[in-house]
Amino acid sequence: MIVHVFENAKQVARAAAALFAAQILKKPDSVLGLATGSTPIETYQELIQLYKDGILDFSKVVSFNLDEYVGLPATHEQSYDRFMKEQLFSHINIKETHLPSGIAPDMAQECLDYEQKIHQAGGIDLQLLGIGTNGHIGFNEPAEAFAYNTNITQLAESTIKANRRFFLSEDQVPKTAISMGIGTIMEARSILLLAMGDSKAEVIQQMVNGPITPQLPASILRSHQSVTVLLDQAAASKLGR
Ligand code: F6R
Repeated sequence: MIVHVFENAKQVARAAAALFAAQILKKPDSVLGLATGSTPIETYQELIQLYKDGILDFSKVVSFNLDEYVGLPATHEQSYDRFMKEQLFSHINIKETHLPSGIAPDMAQECLDYEQKIHQAGGIDLQLLGIGTNGHIGFNEPAEAFAYNTNITQLAESTIKANRRFFLSEDQVPKTAISMGIGTIMEARSILLLAMGDSKAEVIQQMVNGPITPQLPASILRSHQSVTVLLDQAAASKLGR
């Protein structure tokens, strides 16, 4: 795991976009793993700019998102499908995008199908991740064991509270999600995790220095051969040297 610390969030986003750009320039038909949430928004803005400036071409790029809320149709204001269209997909010429469906009639089958689609596309070249304050990646919450494949997951209380800001009331925050599993994420050839702000400082410290444990799912990333972590100073403030 390589950790880089930048002065601020803007610089983190620029560095993240540069790594994505390098990936796409090296392999124009890259398969990207993408994330939602606050963390990647500025990176997506940088990528949109690179596209508008004619530097990046997404016409052969395929993407797979980490997760979706169970019960929300793609058209729902807070669905991750809608988020991705608004924040990235509708602004670039990406060839093909995939998110797991939160409303498939058979969700267990949807998990299998999603996993299979990723394999059929050749696997993920570069996976973008944020991190929850409890150490979740995707919606793989702290648990007794790592969930291997794409799975249906109960959101932790802290995740429901963190996501409350996007909904009118806590009641409306979905309690269940469909998420790539830890195994799905670990199969990506390279992983890029971003974290910004004081609220992530403690979990980053634990991810880097603590034990590898399913109680802090992101800690497993230390056993992946190619993980880059980009932090702003606030998120790195508990790391020490
Ligand atoms: C989003 C996702 C989550 C978020 C995490 C951090 O697709 O899978 O793991 O990356 O909850 O969220 P933010 O970026 O809002 O702090």
